[in-house]
Amino acid sequence: MANFLAYLSLRVYIEIGSGYNACMKKILNSPIETEEFGWEFAQTLKTRQDTATIVALEGNLGSGKTTFVQAVAKALGVKEHLTSPTFVIMKPYELHDQLFKRLIHVDAYRLKHGEELTRLAWPRYANDPGNIIFIEWPEHVADILPADAKKIALTFIDEHTRGIEL
Ligand SMILES: Nc1ncnc2c1ncn2[C@@H]1O[C@H](COP(=O)(O)OP(=O)(O)OP(=O)(O)O)[C@@H](O)[C@H]1O
Ligand SMILES: [Mg+2]
Repeated sequence: MANFLAYLSLRVYIEIGSGYNACMKKILNSPIETEEFGWEFAQTLKTRQDTATIVALEGNLGSGKTTFVQAVAKALGVKEHLTSPTFVIMKPYELHDQLFKRLIHVDAYRLKHGEELTRLAWPRYANDPGNIIFIEWPEHVADILPADAKKIALTFIDEHTRGIEL
């Protein structure tokens, strides 16, 4: 019931399109709660008309960014275990019979400028409305991120607790 209410409030928040003015904050008391929140978030996603859907995941080391993406990926039908693409930087996952054709996970931790992404497959990925892209360490490539990218911020509170704001 609590999960259903959380899902409803997230849904209402997204539906009224108040993302630029209001924010939603939640405390996640365990990795499982972060996973559940990722699943709920996945249910609210919609494709865009002309470009990929881009989600910028801010948060320090160990704040739960990858844990969150793993849960969204699972909810969107990714079968393989998603791990952080620290060395390959960008990793695409093909989706089958889903709203999106492909999920792309980006770890920009080792990058200094957006140009380093544009030299990879970024332009092709970012221009395709069939793609949903999650970027960890978006502040490292802020110069190429669209202003309307969805922003999610995770914060480390203590060993088991994280805050999430979107
Ligand atoms: N409430 C919580 N939500 C998410 N992860 C949690 C929570 N409590 C503990 N953890 C643990 O914190 C770690 C989070 O790691 P994760 O790789 O998701 O972080 P990250 O933000 O992607 O880190 P990095 O910046 O190194 O990529 C995991 O080991 C996870 O089990
Ligand atoms: Mg990570």
